Amino acid sequence: MNVIVCDTPEEAGARAAVLVAAILRQRPNPVLGVATGESPLRMYAALRELVRDSVDVSHLRVFALDEYLGLDPARPDSFHSVVHREITLPFGLHEAAVSVPNGIGTEKRVMADAAEYETAIAAAGGVDVQVVGIGVNGHIGFNEPGSPKDSRTRIVMLAPETLAANARFFTPEPVPPRAVSQGIGTILEARNIVLLANGLRKAEAVRAAVQGRETVDVPASLLQGHPSLQVFLDRDAASLLS
Ligand code: GLP
Repeated sequence: MNVIVCDTPEEAGARAAVLVAAILRQRPNPVLGVATGESPLRMYAALRELVRDSVDVSHLRVFALDEYLGLDPARPDSFHSVVHREITLPFGLHEAAVSVPNGIGTEKRVMADAAEYETAIAAAGGVDVQVVGIGVNGHIGFNEPGSPKDSRTRIVMLAPETLAANARFFTPEPVPPRAVSQGIGTILEARNIVLLANGLRKAEAVRAAVQGRETVDVPASLLQGHPSLQVFLDRDAASLLS
């Protein structure tokens, strides 16, 4: 694990983008894993600039980490829409090159599509670099505390603190209580993982993930043994690290 502490979230995003672009450039058919949320947005903006000049995006394949269950993907607060706004359009990608887990239909259908999602990732050659944020409770994607280290893409129940943290996108409607998320096991198969966290509200989760023991109670701590984990923090998010 490599922890890079930057003065500002902007610097962290810019430095993470340089690393992500370098990894993507090395591959003829690069596969990028993307997270939603605010933490990676500055990195995506910097990456767009770097990619525009140096990565042949016509071969870029993108897989999103998660999507709410039962949410119309056309809604602006769905992760389908977020990924379309933040990745597909600005990077100039074809819709078919960008995959987001399916959260609509019967549970049977959603679970079947979840298994298909795993197959599609493998068929693409696996993820070259997986971008992740971290929840205030240490979750990765929507893998909440208690998620097994070998978990795969599946339906998950969102924790109360996650519902509270994401309410800002749904008010006055309730946040969907469940989602479909790539598992910790799926994420760990990425060849490289880049974790971004900013702000004091993430300091405790970052401390537990980076310096705490590996435990399912802090899903991000399960990434500690990954051979290529780069953690980009601003000073506030790093403030509890010794
Ligand atoms: C959501 C997403 C995660 C993200 C987390 C933190 O739960 N499913 O992938 O890392 O929120 O989001 P933010 O970066 O906005 O704090």
